[in-house]
This record gives sequence, C-alpha cells and structure tokens, in this order.
Amino acid sequence: MEMEMEMESPFKADILKGKVGLITGGGSGIGFEISTQLGKHGASVAIMGRRKQVLQAAVSALQSLGIHAIGFEGDVRKREDAKRVIESTFKHFGRIDILVNAAAGNFLVNAEDLSPNGFRTVMDIDSVGTFTMCHEALGYLRKGGHGRNSTIGGSILNISATLHYTASWYQIHVSAAKAAVDSITRSLALEWGADYDIRVNGIAPGPIADTPGLSKLAPAEIKTQAREQLPLFKIGDKWDIAMAAVYLVSDAGKFVNGTTLVVDGGHWLNRPRR
Ligand code: HXC
Repeated sequence: MEMEMEMESPFKADILKGKVGLITGGGSGIGFEISTQLGKHGASVAIMGRRKQVLQAAVSALQSLGIHAIGFEGDVRKREDAKRVIESTFKHFGRIDILVNAAAGNFLVNAEDLSPNGFRTVMDIDSVGTFTMCHEALGYLRKGGHGRNSTIGGSILNISATLHYTASWYQIHVSAAKAAVDSITRSLALEWGADYDIRVNGIAPGPIADTPGLSKLAPAEIKTQAREQLPLFKIGDKWDIAMAAVYLVSDAGKFVNGTTLVVDGGHWLNRPRR
C-alpha cells in the first residue's frame, strides 16, 4: 500500500460503530480508501475483489490500523460469487449494514473500435454487478432482515462518475454503465426506501489522484493544466470521496435517499473562461 499524507477526519471516530460494511472493489483505489475510512469511523469491513494478493495486502493494511477487516475473493459479474461473499460477510460479522459498490472496469477506446463484448463487459461489471450485489444483499440490509434487531434498514452506496452528464470521449461503455448505475440508485431508493427503510445513494467522483481511473483515463497533463481545467484548481484525493461516503452512510445522511452526490470540485461544470 502506498503511504499518503494523513488527513484528519472532521467526523467523530465512532459514528459508524457497530456497523458492518461490505465494499466491492475495496482492495484498491477509491474502494480501499472508503474501506479505510468506514473502518476508522468504527465499522467492521469486508472487502471483495478478484485479485487475491491485492485483497491480502489491503486486509493487512486495514488490520494494521486496528480495523476489523476481512477479504473475500469474488467477481461481481458472477451471481454465485455475490451470494457467497455476502453470506460469508454475514457469517463472519453477524450483520451487514452498508454495501458499497465500488468495483468497476474501464479502458479508453473509440466507439468504432469497441466490440459489443467490450461494451457488455463494462456494463456487466458496473451496472449488472451493482444490481446483483444489491439484490443479493437485500435480505441482510432490510429492516428486520438477517442479523437486524431493529426497524432500521441499512444503506447502499454506488460509486458512479460524471462522464454521462455530458458526453465523454472514448467512454461510451462506461458512460452507459454509469448512467444505468445512477438509474439503479434512484429506482432502489424508491422501492427499497418505501418497503425496507434502506437508503440508496451514489457518489460521482471527479478526477481523483492516485486512482486507476485517473492513471488509465486522464491525460498526463491534467495536473499541470489543473489551473485552467479545474474550478478548485486541483484534482481531488481519495479522502474526499471517502468523507462523502462516511457522510452518506452515517446517520448524518439519514434523510438523503436516491441522490448521487457529485464530488468533483465543480469539474464537470467547467467551461473555458471567457
Ligand atoms: C478495447 C477492450 C479493451 C481495450 C478489453 N477490451 N480491454 N477493448 N480496448 N483496452 C474488450 C476485450 O477485447 C473483450 O472483447 C472484452 O473487452 C472483455 O475483455 P477481457 O480482457 O476478457 O475482460 P476482463 O479480463 O474481464 O477485464 C475487464 C476489463 C479490465 C474491464 C477489460 O480492464 C478490468 O477488469 N479492469 C478492472 C479494473 C479497472 O479498470 N478499474 C478502473 C476503474 S476506473 P472481445 O470482443 O475481444 O471479446 C473507473 C473510473 C470511471 O471506473 C470514471 C472515470 C472518470
């Protein structure tokens, strides 16, 4: 794990005490930082990912911070993996309160060079994977569900993007996939909010330093051009996304349901100054 400058949280350290979070894609990038911050605010965390070594390193890093953490190998495209990881999380921690869908796939490609199977692959990971995880976790997250002794339901957080608010070059697959994710967020917020007291929200990160998203997608010049291109004159940190996550899944966000919070410093709104 790379070491980063430690930023102090503005939230109390126990606001997620007693809660259990499952984070897909929790072994690296934004998913790992969300896992870390949920843990630092009192939650126990299970992380799900496809890469054993990445998971092991992430779990060790979390445990070295005193966080109750466990890793489960799995691919969100496989329903049986989703089911197994959710069941294992419940068996290990006795409840599940928070599901964070942070697993995502991405690459830059012209629409004309993208095969339908390439398009489908990203839809399968981001959109269908998000739905599958939500669907399999419902029995644990809903009020009165397994391990819940209260009338309060859990919450879901879907990591999205701002690509599809306009149109983004070489990102037809991811834009479509994240548009579907936002739609899933709203539909589940409506149905599961009403029926099960589960809140469902999203976060749409902008350019975030030290993430696979940035290194894969952003031109190398983004940092040097930050002054012209980014309203806050800087790219964000994973910490910024994780703080939004802590807010949304904690009681601070108890009346927030069905929204996707843009955490991008105003980036997607930007137009050249005139
Ligand atoms: C064109 C590509 C391609 C590429 C894969 N494909 N990479 N097409 N250009 N660079 C096509 C393949 O040709 C194939 O189609 C299909 O996609 C499936 O490819 P596989 O390699 O079999 O898929 P798989 O091994 O499952 O890998 C999935 C992946 C991979 C999405 C392709 O990159 C991955 O798993 N990445 C996960 C990590 C990741 O990218 N995280 C970053 C998320 S960043 P054919 O037709 O040949 O069979 C993020 C930020 C978004 O989400 C927003 C930013 C602002």
